[in-house]
Amino acid sequence: MAAAASVDALLALGRDVLLPVYRQREMILERGQGARVWDSEGRDYVDFAAGIAVCSLGHCDPELTAALVEQAGRLWHTSNVFYSEPPLRLAQELVAASRFAERAFLCNSGAEANEAAIKLVRKWATAQGREPARRVIVTFRGSFHGRTLAAVTATAQPKYQEGFDPLPGGFRYVDFNDIAQLETAMAGGDVAAVMLEPVQGEGGVMPAAPGYLQAVRALCDRHKALLVLDEIQCGMGRTGALFAHWEDGMVPDIVTLAKALGGGFPVGALLAGPKVAQAMQFGAHGTTFGGNPLAAAVARVALRRLASQDIAANVARQSQAIRDGLDALNRDFGLFAQVRGRGLMLGAVLKPEHAGKAGAIGDLAAAHGLLLLQAGPDVLRFVPALNIDDDAIADGLARLRRALEAFANG
Ligand SMILES: Cc1ncc(COP(=O)(O)O)c(C=O)c1O
Repeated sequence: MAAAASVDALLALGRDVLLPVYRQREMILERGQGARVWDSEGRDYVDFAAGIAVCSLGHCDPELTAALVEQAGRLWHTSNVFYSEPPLRLAQELVAASRFAERAFLCNSGAEANEAAIKLVRKWATAQGREPARRVIVTFRGSFHGRTLAAVTATAQPKYQEGFDPLPGGFRYVDFNDIAQLETAMAGGDVAAVMLEPVQGEGGVMPAAPGYLQAVRALCDRHKALLVLDEIQCGMGRTGALFAHWEDGMVPDIVTLAKALGGGFPVGALLAGPKVAQAMQFGAHGTTFGGNPLAAAVARVALRRLASQDIAANVARQSQAIRDGLDALNRDFGLFAQVRGRGLMLGAVLKPEHAGKAGAIGDLAAAHGLLLLQAGPDVLRFVPALNIDDDAIADGLARLRRALEAFANG
């Protein structure tokens, strides 16, 4: 067997062969178990990132692994031109769990689920007899919906759109949590849908204000527009309910999912409520790999587990533990202006004097054995596995303390 490549050699390889669209940290991760991962030098890390809110049952969960291996020995891929049981069952279980959907479309990623949602809105509007100018989709500043051309246009943040003109038309942006602005944006009667995250993720971990989603629903009803919820990051148990919007007491027309749905195996889904379940007919949309048997077999287990009371209880418990830990750190270091978010989707907002330093703190966290994400330049983001235990939380917070000490000491 060839000798393992050195870390430096692999880092150099990454710099040479990958499109340089990420700034990876200087380590090579090799294996994971639960809420911990190890690098190729044997160093261990507490994982507060979970593959960007993906590995919600931790790394290498035995039941997910068994489902994957079992399916891998049976049937890998059929395309959607033929039926196989795992995606049928996954769609059935998602529809039943959703409490609103009639049908599902399975795909491979979040961007793809949102792209399907945008196309579904447009098809529905077309069937309503609306001319193209009256098929506008309203989205929100600070949102993130993915990197395909339509999803990045829905993403109302210029930094993700720069240089990609011409962008698709028919999107309008308003401020998040400002119902008056949305009302004005819809007043002309040309809006086909409003699309938003119940908790904005990449935009800085910003939850919808209490009552906001209900007010958006009322406006959509008044203007005969669809309401699309992107629960790709905040859904699948992360806020403490299987679907984040359950806590907001309203019913959407379309929900998109990905990330935690596969527990680390790529899969996405669009859930369609009664108004739109028939809007896409034969040939209107498709994907070669979407919800293939491997992805579906894993996602079925993930869905069942993420819907459990145990997970909801642990999310509440560990959310409080992180909040308490961050309060204690703030008493000592005074770095945060605010801690916000819901469940295990929390953001620590840096004070203005530390603006732009979230990446530097992330580097220090990694150096002190903690995988930590940012959400924009000013927010530290905490999205660990939803079954993370007390020890890993305490250990991760202790490592964060050492990282913040190093930061405070310059
Ligand atoms: C809310 C939200 N929507 C969509 C996406 C895009 O998902 P993907 O990266 O799987 O395309 C993300 C990814 O971060 C997200 O957080």
